[in-house]
Amino acid sequence: MTFRTLGIETSCDETAAAVLVDGNTILSSVVSSQVDLHARFGGVVPEIASRAHVELIVPVVADALVEAGVEGKDIDLVAATSGPGLIGALLVGLSAAKALSLVWDVPFIGVNHLEAHLYASFLEEPDLELPLVVLLVSGGHTMLILMEDHGQYRVLGRTLDDAAGEAFDKVARFLGLGYPGGPAIDLLAMEGDPAAVDFPRAMRRDGLDFSFSGLKTAVVNHVRANPESDPADIAASFQEAVVDVLLTKAQRAIEQEDARGLCLAGGVAANSSLRERALDLSMAGGHQAFLPSRSMCTDNAAMVAAAGWRRFQASGPSPLDLGTDPSLSIFGL
Ligand code: KG4
Ligand code: ZN
Repeated sequence: MTFRTLGIETSCDETAAAVLVDGNTILSSVVSSQVDLHARFGGVVPEIASRAHVELIVPVVADALVEAGVEGKDIDLVAATSGPGLIGALLVGLSAAKALSLVWDVPFIGVNHLEAHLYASFLEEPDLELPLVVLLVSGGHTMLILMEDHGQYRVLGRTLDDAAGEAFDKVARFLGLGYPGGPAIDLLAMEGDPAAVDFPRAMRRDGLDFSFSGLKTAVVNHVRANPESDPADIAASFQEAVVDVLLTKAQRAIEQEDARGLCLAGGVAANSSLRERALDLSMAGGHQAFLPSRSMCTDNAAMVAAAGWRRFQASGPSPLDLGTDPSLSIFGL
């Protein structure tokens, strides 16, 4: 018998819904990005995000059902992100999911957005071998996580200040490249020289934690002192510094934990240089590297449905009074 999960994601600036069969076959995955609404402010404006989710949630869910060729009565579980994220944004998706579960008389489950990012990989490669080191790099988080088993995580390292995606966004804004900054820097860096400027690699030699705020300041200081420098060289050198630190620490984590391989997750995992270098590293180190497709790296609801389905199989539904938790940790569910 097939089991269909509707996933809903509204933790930040993407309104998304997806229908999955048995947690791993995607029937539909609809993502409506609000990037245009936030671009002129140079970042996500929480109140604008919440209002846009309110407008988009019904059409996006309807599209996901139509694309999947199913109706409400065919859905067996409704999963929605309950945290971490923007509280007003989370509330829209979570409330919609609870309402649908009541109307359709099916269970509801709250999903941890960080765990959902991890499950983006299992959607595309269900047989990934554990233990795995996951480099989770997004706009709000930068973490090295040891996934020992399904639902069993250990945080090995995390950023002490800015997230990697935040550093991309801030540097892009400073260079006048617009929002979101990651894809803009990725593109511009292809025309630049990554060795043009030797930007600092904070804490590269020790431990598994990260720090990116000094790098951002170094870029600003360098450009102010050298106004004639080529923005493509700056973008490439900045990106090189971020990728170098991320992968040096990921390699250290794999060796320390004797893990089977490395898996990338989160929006920054869409970065071309990070992807290329992660593959090089895996070939040199003899471990597996799994890179989810770019559309699976950035926020989507298929990963939410996959994580929700897995949690539901393991421990059943969430209570309908489950609240949102804007600062939910990876251990929070
Ligand atoms: O996972 P995500 O879609 O949302 C969060 O949960 O934060 O990640 C968004 C972040 C943004 O900071 C964006 O600039 C970054 O991912 N990003 C990239 C690329 N595509 C998205 N960073 C570097 N290179 C990219 N190609
Ligand atoms: Zn995310």
